[in-house]
Order: sequence, then C-alpha cells, then structure tokens
Amino acid sequence: MTREELKAAATGMLDKAYCPYSHFPVGAALECVDGTVYTGCNIENAAYPVGTCAERTAMGKAISEGHRDFVRIVVAGKSEGPCVPCGMCRQFMKEFAPKLEVICLNAKGEEQAFTMEELLPHGFDQSFL
Ligand code: THU
Repeated sequence: MTREELKAAATGMLDKAYCPYSHFPVGAALECVDGTVYTGCNIENAAYPVGTCAERTAMGKAISEGHRDFVRIVVAGKSEGPCVPCGMCRQFMKEFAPKLEVICLNAKGEEQAFTMEELLPHGFDQSFL
C-alpha cells in the first residue's frame, strides 16, 4: 500500500469512530512489515477512562492476529494541527515498534511525520526490567 493509500485508509476510519462524548473521531491505519494493514478508530465508553484510542485499536487487532513487526502508522483526526498520539498510545506503540514512523494528519489531510524517539524520548521499555 502506498503512503497515500495508507492515509486514505486511516481517514476512512473516521466514520467508524464511536465518540459520542468527545465528538472527536480518530482513525488509524497500521502497516505491518509484510504489508498487511490493520485499521482502527477510537471507541469511547460512558465510563470515560474505559474508552480506547484509534491507534491502540489498530495495534490490538494486528497483535491479536499474530503481527508484531510494524513499519508505520497513520493517525487521522479532524483537528487544526496534526492529530498526534496521546501519551498512553505512545507508550503502547513503543513496546512493539520502537522504530515506527508515525504519520499524523489534520482535518485537511496535511501530514506531519514523527519517529517514536521524537514522540517518546527516554521512554520506559523492556530494557529496564
Ligand atoms: N484519541 C485517539 O483515538 N487517538 C489520539 O491520538 C488522540 C485521542 C481519542 C480518544 C478520545 O476518544 C478522543 O480522541 C478525544 O480525546
């Protein structure tokens, strides 16, 4: 899948988001090293902390299907600035993909790309245990 196709896959997930509380839909598309793509959206809950972000939905789907090697993820939001992953998602993604490219889109589809190292410098990982 091309970069543009991956961006379209993430943007296409905005319609699937369940976000009756924040009214802020987020879509994600995660590319595995073998080219397989898993998509995700945010899924909120009446008990607010129970909700899940789009990135963790996509990564959970991939991992549960046996994929653990990831190349890049696109995160799409309807924000003015590029929709960056929350702190919890940064930590979650670092566990499996310390070299992940994270491509963040705003409402206009404009992108800003980051490395995991940029998003979570000095992060906690397996090496501490
Ligand atoms: N959200 C995501 O799904 N991913 C992000 O990168 C940032 C935030 C969701 C969580 C919540 O459902 C809504 O956006 C507002 O915070």
